[in-house]
Amino acid sequence: MRAFTLFLFCIFSFSLYAQVHIIPQPSNISIQDGYFIFNPKINIYYKEKNASEIAQYLSDQLKNLYGVQLNIKNAEPDPSEKIILISEDLSFPKEGYELTVTATTIQLKGTANGLFYAVQSLLQLFPAERITTTILIPTLQIVDNPRFQYRGLHLDVGRHFMPVSFIKKYIDYIAFHKMNYFHWHLTEDQGWRIEIKKYPNLTKIGSMRNGTIIGRYPGKGNDNIKYGGFYTQEQVKEIVKYASDRFITIIPEIELPGHSSAAIASYPSLSCFPDEPTKILENMISEESKKSKGKLVQETWGVFDDVFCAGKDATFDFLQNVIDELILLFPGKYFHVGGDECPKANWKRCPNCQQRMKENNLKDEHELQSYFIQRMEKYLNQKGKTLIGWDEILEGGLAPKAIVMSWRGEAGGIAAAKEKHEVIMTPGNPVYFDHTQTRTEDSVTIGGYNPLTKVYAYEPIPKELTEEEAKYVLGAQANVWTEYMKNEQKIEYMLFPRLSALSEVLWSPKEKRNWNDFENRLKTQYKRYPLLQTNYSKPYF
Ligand code: ACM
Ligand code: ZN
Repeated sequence: MRAFTLFLFCIFSFSLYAQVHIIPQPSNISIQDGYFIFNPKINIYYKEKNASEIAQYLSDQLKNLYGVQLNIKNAEPDPSEKIILISEDLSFPKEGYELTVTATTIQLKGTANGLFYAVQSLLQLFPAERITTTILIPTLQIVDNPRFQYRGLHLDVGRHFMPVSFIKKYIDYIAFHKMNYFHWHLTEDQGWRIEIKKYPNLTKIGSMRNGTIIGRYPGKGNDNIKYGGFYTQEQVKEIVKYASDRFITIIPEIELPGHSSAAIASYPSLSCFPDEPTKILENMISEESKKSKGKLVQETWGVFDDVFCAGKDATFDFLQNVIDELILLFPGKYFHVGGDECPKANWKRCPNCQQRMKENNLKDEHELQSYFIQRMEKYLNQKGKTLIGWDEILEGGLAPKAIVMSWRGEAGGIAAAKEKHEVIMTPGNPVYFDHTQTRTEDSVTIGGYNPLTKVYAYEPIPKELTEEEAKYVLGAQANVWTEYMKNEQKIEYMLFPRLSALSEVLWSPKEKRNWNDFENRLKTQYKRYPLLQTNYSKPYF
């Protein structure tokens, strides 16, 4: 009878846990017959300091996900003991790793980054549900390394602010998918979201709006609810550390010269016309704002004419002072300055802007925009930073070392790569995750249909590039603009399962991409979403 029960148990466990459903698909994986039988008395051994942090992370994750607490040891294991062994091996590629599971040992090898990704793969060998029965880890060997060096996800906290706790969760989603950049869009027309000590009005005034339009633009009036929020520098430091512990670099974005209404509401002299009140259409403005005769934080979506004045040196002094504070918070190499959607109407009628154009022989306002970006680039380069901008920074001439984020399709990215500039692909179609993923979506989204299949089929290297030019494409990124995402659940709903598809586009070898196989693994991924306590879009299955 006992043998029969054991037999049943094995069959049951086999069917539950034998599948190796890892997303993103590893470069090489060979599965053998057999199992490592996991139990909570197994110790995690490590040797090097970096490996100690990975061991702690693995232990924490097992505790969070499965409620098991493993001991961590820095010692020689007893040869007869069943163990998890983590060893740093600097001979591996920067993000590469090897994960070997035998009946007696789970061994993780790689650089610190690689070990972190080895842990992500190992966690996916555990059941996708929180279970209390014996856990069987299939014996196998994985040798893995990412296809692209830049694997990014963006979040707009300007339109809707998200608390520190959610930003950490978001970073965990990035880490879980073996992605490595978080592009944090921190300033917008509708809110300035980061404390700058030299300019307290940015958060005192710029982080609050008097109301928000109701429903899809142009909306059905204004909700008249004061809305705001910002991150203190202490909170930013905490988040940067949290990301760095997960091998994620945060790229801060300070939008310029456009999308600057919140900064201008805080310091009107940054505008070409400080005395001109902000215009918000009658059917969109809040009751509170109707009383104002000055500058306002925007309450509706879109693109606004009141932008940073390119003619006044004081504008550049302000932005440089902001950068000075930010570079103490964000140690990464990249700094995003926006550069998109900057109307030129005010510059055309501003005496200071026109004077600037004359003095610098700039033939039109596009060249003035280019002057603006190049001046920021020079400053950032002096501080050891590399400028990233949306593809509009191509207009009027690209700043010498700028990296282009191609969002209006791939044309900007193609042009930049041909000019030997590095490029990050983030075309609206298909990696804008504010677009709908189902034909029958009943919540409000921004136009465009980017279903899972389209995201999975996305190829970041455009056909138009030669092999040499293709090397300038660092990778790709999904963008999450939050006009119609007011809460965490909606953001998660828009993110999943598309983020899982994108992670495979960015990580797995091109020849390994296989929709049918992905679809099969996705069934398991759908069980992991609840395990991660995230919301997700369900219609796909
Ligand atoms: C953008 O979506 N305006 C970069
Ligand atoms: Zn001006």
